Amino acid sequence: MTYQNLTLETRGNVALITLNRPKALNALSSALMDELTDAVRAAEADDGVGAMVITGSDKAFAAGADIGELKAHDFARAYVENLISRNWEEPARARKPVIAAVAGYALGGGCELAMMCDFIIAADNAKFGQPEIRIGVVPGAGGTQRLTRFVGKSKAMEMCLTGRMMDAGEAERAGLASRVVPLADLVDEAVKTAQAIAELSRPAVMATKELVNTAYETTLSEGIRAERRLFHAMFSTADKDEGMAAFLEKREPDWKHR
Ligand code: CAA
Repeated sequence: MTYQNLTLETRGNVALITLNRPKALNALSSALMDELTDAVRAAEADDGVGAMVITGSDKAFAAGADIGELKAHDFARAYVENLISRNWEEPARARKPVIAAVAGYALGGGCELAMMCDFIIAADNAKFGQPEIRIGVVPGAGGTQRLTRFVGKSKAMEMCLTGRMMDAGEAERAGLASRVVPLADLVDEAVKTAQAIAELSRPAVMATKELVNTAYETTLSEGIRAERRLFHAMFSTADKDEGMAAFLEKREPDWKHR
């Protein structure tokens, strides 16, 4: 696929996807989301890639779904075309880790896209919000559900009901962003973090991601059982033998990713 609204590049074993629709502050048009779906699938399928970073511009990660496109939908079109479900959720489906590197606005669908990623590194100028209420609708790409899980009911309710934005410091304190870095360092820092993850044993990384996500989908006892099963399964990997031997021999491990 030829991309018009984003760039996809590899930096070492990291796929870096940069949303690039500057005239609309990276508003997430259907064309952009088709491209993002394709780019995430390409990174998933590339054996040389161990992790992904999704970022935007210094001014906007993404200012939400494209409001012009949404305005043209009625119920039947939204339902029949499977609006959002059709082409938004690939980052949440990816099995390799995906980091959102957020600078500037991450509003509405932009905040929701960031929350579909595994964690968010925020630049010091980042602003997060779910302003859909101000255009007469509700969040439609997981905002009411994921924001509540990230920051708790009180703050999520306030943000979704008022549309107020949260700055980077508040986002970090509330648990929405894992950490805040200077704007100038954002992409390098996110890629460095993704690189460090990509260099680890891939089965262990993918299983870890699956298990942390399981915590959001199930009861504690079922989650613990799932963790125990995969913990036991790790004892069948070559990387378990290598990782433990390397520790005991005081050397760096040579991961085989199997
Ligand atoms: N959709 C379409 N175009 C958008 C857009 C969006 N979500 N956000 C910004 N743009 C466009 C503007 O229309 C403008 O285009 P023109 O230059 O052609 O007029 C351009 O981007 C620059 O925007 P502004 O002039 O508004 O820039 P600003 O710096 O004054 O304000 C902003 C920035 C506060 C982010 C403001 O643009 C804004 O409020 N944007 C909309 C945010 C929003 O409501 N997002 C939720 C969308 S609905 C959604 O996402 C549903 C869902 O859950 C999936």
